Amino acid sequence: MSKITVVGAGKVGATCANVLAHADIVNEVVLIDIQGNMAKGKALDMWQQAPVDGYSTRVTGGDDYALTANSDIVVITAGIPRKPGMSRDDLISTNAKIVVSVTQNILKYTKNPIIIVVSNPLDVMTYACWKASGLSDKRVFGMAGVLDTARYRAFSLKRSSVSQKISRPCSWADTAIPWCRCPVHHR
Ligand SMILES: NC(=O)c1ccc[n+]([C@@H]2O[C@H](COP(=O)([O-])OP(=O)(O)OC[C@H]3O[C@@H](n4cnc5c(N)ncnc54)[C@H](O)[C@@H]3O)[C@@H](O)[C@H]2O)c1
Repeated sequence: MSKITVVGAGKVGATCANVLAHADIVNEVVLIDIQGNMAKGKALDMWQQAPVDGYSTRVTGGDDYALTANSDIVVITAGIPRKPGMSRDDLISTNAKIVVSVTQNILKYTKNPIIIVVSNPLDVMTYACWKASGLSDKRVFGMAGVLDTARYRAFSLKRSSVSQKISRPCSWADTAIPWCRCPVHHR
């Protein structure tokens, strides 16, 4: 794989780009944000960190979607996050417009990317992205369960000091419930 674009250079997007850069698994990571200079500056910091931390990923950034041309994977984190008292569903109308416009811009420069949506509310944004993209449903994904699963496991460990394997088969919302999976030993 040679190129991953991350759209949204805020807390989630910049962290994602930084982790990808350090993983050294792609030639290029592109960080795009409506605040182009902020994305450009963060990308520059990540690229210049490479000799110190020992990776060779080229990181670039800005607000010009031409930079994203021919991406293998696009991660969409653009949007507004929840403020205190808000549910993820309160973000629908604002973030849907953002996710749809980001999707349209991406497709101007990359014909058949894999898109991973992170913006909330996750299930709705993933659907909006898929509808706007016209891509196969095998190319558009939503990333969510990892976060709550990690939190749940961390709190479980704190309480019990017993490791648990947990999966989350339900939708991504305030009503989500963790699903505990106990190991079964067959004879
Ligand atoms: N799925 C998950 O597990 C998960 C976890 C955490 C956060 N989120 C969601 O991810 C999103 C981002 O959260 P955050 O904390 O990084 O927010 P943030 O405010 O730090 O960053 C969002 C970025 O999106 C940019 N942006 C807004 N409109 C844009 C557009 N049209 N084009 C390009 N960039 C645009 C903003 O300038 C900002 O830099 C939120 O919707 C949040 O709820 C999802």
